Amino acid sequence: MTKALEFHDRMLSLGLARVSEAAAIACAPLIGRGDEKAADQAAVDAMRTQLNKLDIQGVVVIGEGERDEAPMLYIGEEVGAGSGPQVDIALDPLEGTTLTAKDMPNALAVIAMGPRGSMLHAPDVYMEKLAIGPGFRRGVVTLDMSPAERVSALASAKGCSTTDITVCVLERPRHEDMIAELRSTGAAIRLITDGDVAGVMHCAEPATTGIDMYMGSGGAPEGVLAAAALKCMGGQIFGKLLFRNDDERGRAKKAGITNFDRVYTRDDLVTGDVIFAATGVTDGSLVTGIKREVGYITVETILMRSKTGSVRRMTYRNPVA
Ligand code: FBP
Repeated sequence: MTKALEFHDRMLSLGLARVSEAAAIACAPLIGRGDEKAADQAAVDAMRTQLNKLDIQGVVVIGEGERDEAPMLYIGEEVGAGSGPQVDIALDPLEGTTLTAKDMPNALAVIAMGPRGSMLHAPDVYMEKLAIGPGFRRGVVTLDMSPAERVSALASAKGCSTTDITVCVLERPRHEDMIAELRSTGAAIRLITDGDVAGVMHCAEPATTGIDMYMGSGGAPEGVLAAAALKCMGGQIFGKLLFRNDDERGRAKKAGITNFDRVYTRDDLVTGDVIFAATGVTDGSLVTGIKREVGYITVETILMRSKTGSVRRMTYRNPVA
């Protein structure tokens, strides 16, 4: 492969940050305006425009949906300027559309990039997820364990009491039994209304976020994005696709998935080295949200590379008319 066609993660990373910055900035006028669709559309348009400026031959593998459902950034869409390395892209221009519309914490513009074939083509179905941060032996918690067993296992590994563990869970009726079981252990639960990419990422920085473990079901595409983040930050994630009907199984088959019962590890979800960027839209514990002052807009981005495990937080201030 010639040099220009190699996946230069270091060189591409700043370009990736520009892409998530553009998506976040486009949402600025729509924060707290009660219009999820408009906020999402603004992020999609801006992300796509910026992505198409990068010297890559990119294909969206995790995107806004199937081609017939999403006119832009659909799965399979070719993006980039058409020169440079062949890469796969996983993106969510606005992870937390409702969070943005309601001006609630932790809405992010998110994108990951890796060489072609480096990320699972996850269908748009639910995924059962379990994640913890770095520093634990592999498999210290597993999807086979009950929620209470996971809390005990993590507490033993940390050398603390179960009451010292905090678990992050999406607040959904489908999680009621799991929440009740977690409460029986004495663990604390951080309930979030949306945004499980951020939820999983919180596990990688427990000292800052206060979160030790993430569990519950959410979008499978978000599972791949979260795995890309943990591949850079350290930590473990396990995911199992959940199917509610034959249409969803059909989507999985179309994406090339044959074993519907497989438990994916972080490195099954993301098999190669990736770069990952997330820019804060609303304030959160990972990055601050968009700040506006007269004449300027400022955003913060977390930019990471799995090859080096480097985690960089950058602020970008841009004049606005
Ligand atoms: P959107 O940003 O597309 O609204 O998704 C937010 C989200 O909370 C994800 O983080 C999560 O994986 C998924 O929705 C959960 O789905 P559901 O709302 O159906 O439980």
